[in-house]
Amino acid sequence: MKTLAVIALKGGSGKTTVATHLALGAHLRGLDTLLVDIDPQLSARDILGAREVPGPACVTCSGRNVLAAQFGALSQRKDLLIVDTPAGAVEEVGEAIVVADFAVLVVRPTLIDLSGLARSLTIVRKLGKAYTVVLNQAPVPRENIEAPLVKRALKGLDYMQAPVAPVIVRSRSIYQTALERGRSAEEMPDRAAAREIAALWDFINAEVRRSAAPAVDAVAPAASASLPSR
Ligand SMILES: Nc1ncnc2c1ncn2[C@@H]1O[C@H](COP(=O)(O)OP(=O)(O)O)[C@@H](O)[C@H]1O
Ligand SMILES: [Mg+2]
Repeated sequence: MKTLAVIALKGGSGKTTVATHLALGAHLRGLDTLLVDIDPQLSARDILGAREVPGPACVTCSGRNVLAAQFGALSQRKDLLIVDTPAGAVEEVGEAIVVADFAVLVVRPTLIDLSGLARSLTIVRKLGKAYTVVLNQAPVPRENIEAPLVKRALKGLDYMQAPVAPVIVRSRSIYQTALERGRSAEEMPDRAAAREIAALWDFINAEVRRSAAPAVDAVAPAASASLPSR
């Protein structure tokens, strides 16, 4: 089983949007997935609870109990654990990163968000975790040209020597409406969003596999799925 922590100390960055989409993406690829919501706002729990068809399991707990939740997931032979974290709570976020194999840092392309990213970067680097930064809520390029905001953000991230996911998640209302019913944008008719979020899943899946220590055991995952177990 692999564990992903989705973090951003800044609220509204898109942690829950990304965490639930990754969990739904894993589920759609046949992985037995558990999302642990350690944010007292319980948005991820509400989102997945609104799903009318089978989906990833979700439990809630405090950051202090995330290790217990991980043990529970291991004993249930889950393939993947995703932790959705609260904003601002450095200790809780630290707990999630400690148990994670890989951290996903979500950031919007604004100066205020980028400034907030520095602290998250410091934590993952101190803990020696593999991670990637996902740029979220970026404007859709016009005639294939990135908005100056995005170009500046990418420069800033380069300056911070932060590894950035090659898939930028755009600001699209479909991410909001799909999650109202616990659906991934992959399950909606908007092909641009579906392609984008599927590409993000593929990238993160590959990164987790790349960063992982050789698997000790190997529960054969479903056809197109991966994320080997430990
Ligand atoms: N890529 C996106 N496109 C459009 N809206 C988004 C996107 N990502 C997040 N949002 C919206 O922004 C708000 C905050 O997102 P959320 O995932 O709840 O952030 P966080 O969990 O970091 O607080 C929500 O209303 C969500 O629907
Ligand atoms: Mg949230």
